[in-house]
Amino acid sequence: MQGLPSHRVKVVKIILFAAVLCLPSCKEEVSKVPEPVGEFERNVQPIFNRHCVECHSPRNAVRRLVLDSWESLLMGSENGAMIVPFYPKFSHLFQHLHTDTTLSPVAPPLMPIGRNPLSREEVMTIYNWIQNGARSRDGKVPFEDSYSKIYVTNQAADLVAVIDKRTGLLMRYVDVSAQGGISQNPLQSPHYVTVSNNKKYWYVSLIAKGEVWKFDAETDTLVAKVSVGSSPAHILCSPDDSTLYVSNFSASVNRITMVDATTMTVKQTSPPINTAPHGLALSRNGRWLYATAFESDRIFELDLETFSVRQFPLRRSGEPSTRNYRPYQVMLSPDEKKLFVTCNGDATFDGDLRIIDLETLDIKAVQVGKYPILMDYTPDKSRLYVANRNSNSVSVVNVQSEVVVATIENVGVQPHGLAISSDGLVYVSNESLIGFVGHHPTDGGLRAGTSAIIDTRTNQVIKVVEMLSFPAGVAIRE
Ligand code: HEC
Repeated sequence: MQGLPSHRVKVVKIILFAAVLCLPSCKEEVSKVPEPVGEFERNVQPIFNRHCVECHSPRNAVRRLVLDSWESLLMGSENGAMIVPFYPKFSHLFQHLHTDTTLSPVAPPLMPIGRNPLSREEVMTIYNWIQNGARSRDGKVPFEDSYSKIYVTNQAADLVAVIDKRTGLLMRYVDVSAQGGISQNPLQSPHYVTVSNNKKYWYVSLIAKGEVWKFDAETDTLVAKVSVGSSPAHILCSPDDSTLYVSNFSASVNRITMVDATTMTVKQTSPPINTAPHGLALSRNGRWLYATAFESDRIFELDLETFSVRQFPLRRSGEPSTRNYRPYQVMLSPDEKKLFVTCNGDATFDGDLRIIDLETLDIKAVQVGKYPILMDYTPDKSRLYVANRNSNSVSVVNVQSEVVVATIENVGVQPHGLAISSDGLVYVSNESLIGFVGHHPTDGGLRAGTSAIIDTRTNQVIKVVEMLSFPAGVAIRE
């Protein structure tokens, strides 16, 4: 200690002495500092560190997939979400980790590519972590705070897929199966989905089961179920959200069932809507309800105050009497003076968009693609986008001039549902029953489907979101 003043030597000695004395308690102090104690940091991240980050790090992110943290893993790869919380079976990352098709469909190539595969224990550690919600260290389930969401029914999987609006990533599957746990036997077939005007709830029609289920839109948990009779297709909420109008798409029922949305009980049924009502529209004041009669080529107007009914035919004079129009969806024009009706068509007729003037009863036919299904307006209501199931396209119709101003090709296989967000993005579900344009494996599991996101500013598909079988109805909460 040469050169140090004696009082400094003393201070150093005291510090050393104190350090020795406090060793046990200091150790305790250290262990009190919050450590990465969550299951992810303790058990899952080390597996990725050992086997994956070599090729999936920020500097070398193969397929733009980064596996160095919970946050980056949850951002997925260039192909979208790699993890769906609670569903290891349908998490693409999990499908790359093993070859056991009883655990999940298997996606080649096996990861880590060209190395020894993970042990069964490592595979099951990742399985269990996803099954428990893919939680972060502080117990957070990915996207649990997400407000803006897109719901897409996966009709042949008894699930509703949920897309996070901000990132465009698939964030959840909601189980709407008979016994829970994705038992598809018998299929209940979620067909259509709608969000209440106050954004608190969403409703899904189980067309094979004859029920409508109500979900809390914040937590996506089941609130109540109601039995509404055979084949519930479309659902509309009254402007004050007190009533649901549900079409019974059945040639033996032929009615609209009215449900008290609070108690989830049937209040009333409409006079006959012959035959097979499907699409529904409601005037802004909530008084006039329009329904397509799919099997009789007419549109019905129901006055909800008097329950009187008017009908509008779809056939123009001179058109063949053998032709079936099969009207699917109906929407009111922005000024509520006209009806826009998608007609699926039949073997002799490709279908079209028919515009009925409610005053003059004039019918105009606009040639869109084949078998048009669902449609929606741009936020400024200047254009109408129509999903054409049998030509894999979306038609853009100028609402004022009533002409097709653009056709967006190769949207996916069999576009069905369509909804446009307030920022001008079109969400189109593709049934994908006769093909699939994604990269998920379809062996050893359910046939996959997609939804496309189109930007109305460019009319380009900007994203494809892979999901499960038969994507159909689409609804946006924002
Ligand atoms: C030696 C490099 C390498 C290692 C190590 C590796 N990967 Fe990969 N990973 C790749 C390559 C290359 C691809 C693209 C394969 C293809 O598309 O044919 C890929 C693709 C993937 C995909 C598919 C991404 C998509 O967009 O579909 C996932 C998921 C994945 N890896 C996860 C992992 C996991 C988990 C580990 C560790 C257990 C791992 N990888 C280890 C090279 C690697």
